[in-house]
Amino acid sequence: MIARFPSRLGIVAVGMAVPERVVTNDDLALSVATSDEWIVSRTGIRERRIAAPGALTTDLALRAAEQALARSGVAPADIDQIIVATCTPDAFFPSTATLLADRLGAHSAGAFDLGAACTGFVYAVAQAAAQLSSGMAEHVLVVGSEIFTRLLDWDDRGTCVLFGDGAGAVVMSAQAQAEETFGVELGADGSRGDDLIVHAFETGSPYVRMNGAEVFKFATRVMVDSVQRVLQHCDATVSDIAWLVPHQANIRIIDHAIKRLEIDPARVLTNLERYGNTSAASIPLVLAEAWADGRLRPGDRLVMVGFGGGLTWGSCLTTWAAPAAATTGGA
Ligand code: ACO
Repeated sequence: MIARFPSRLGIVAVGMAVPERVVTNDDLALSVATSDEWIVSRTGIRERRIAAPGALTTDLALRAAEQALARSGVAPADIDQIIVATCTPDAFFPSTATLLADRLGAHSAGAFDLGAACTGFVYAVAQAAAQLSSGMAEHVLVVGSEIFTRLLDWDDRGTCVLFGDGAGAVVMSAQAQAEETFGVELGADGSRGDDLIVHAFETGSPYVRMNGAEVFKFATRVMVDSVQRVLQHCDATVSDIAWLVPHQANIRIIDHAIKRLEIDPARVLTNLERYGNTSAASIPLVLAEAWADGRLRPGDRLVMVGFGGGLTWGSCLTTWAAPAAATTGGA
């Protein structure tokens, strides 16, 4: 699907949370047949965070959400909807979002989880934008939270070096005075589901299995196509946006795509060298850091682009609406 509408909405605050434990490539090489040189040259990843045993996806989501809410000035009781993008929920049900709503005290909110793997955050922002734009909601909390390392087979060096844990959250609010364009392009190709899969029950391996070469080709293609499509649909070009915010899977995927998009690498937000691929959390994590260090400024137009299991992909064009970090006390 592809759509544009006068947004009258914006991301008004962002927050993040990561586990304390840092695991470097050299740490991994002690137990997996790999090396820092292999991982850095193939992926750009230098370290990742791994959640403590017993820690829950909801715990990370709560920390990120509390930070975003405090920065937004929106009280939990005023949140109309909570959407948690995750493929590593605490339970099949209750959803992560309902548990989060309870722990936040967001008792007036509808709450659901959204499953689109690494594209989940972009899908969730699109659903939030539609709700805000239609008048269905005034404030929506969108969270990407994952403890993806629980899905890893530590004997599969082709996947276990790629992923990490974390959470990011944004508060999106209706803003009557704003008249920016919100653009969205979302897609899915279930015929290629086997290229990146975690089986449920007894249907196959309970760990992530990936056809790396195929996912690489898919990711570079859809990243370029999706960004171009959403920009074209909104009568914009790459030169109209301040930032490209890609899913943080692999620096080689990002480098390939931005060369074809002819966008200056200085305008592309990345932090995967420190967190690896955190699935649905990766985009809000990099947004949170870029806001805190002052790069992301109010009024900046940006395109977020995700891709992942499904296979799914998606892009959103929006205008950053959070006050500059310095005026709210920084990170
Ligand atoms: N350390 C050392 N050697 C390794 C490792 C490792 N961690 N993993 C694989 N190898 C070996 C392989 O066994 C193979 O050895 P062989 O030639 O003796 O058989 C060799 O390295 C080359 O393996 P390839 O799979 O061809 O390596 P490639 O250069 O394609 O890189 C990678 C693999 C990084 C996974 C790449 O295919 C890729 O980036 N794919 C994209 C997928 C991705 O980023 N997924 C993230 C999740 S998807 C998402 O978020 C949507």
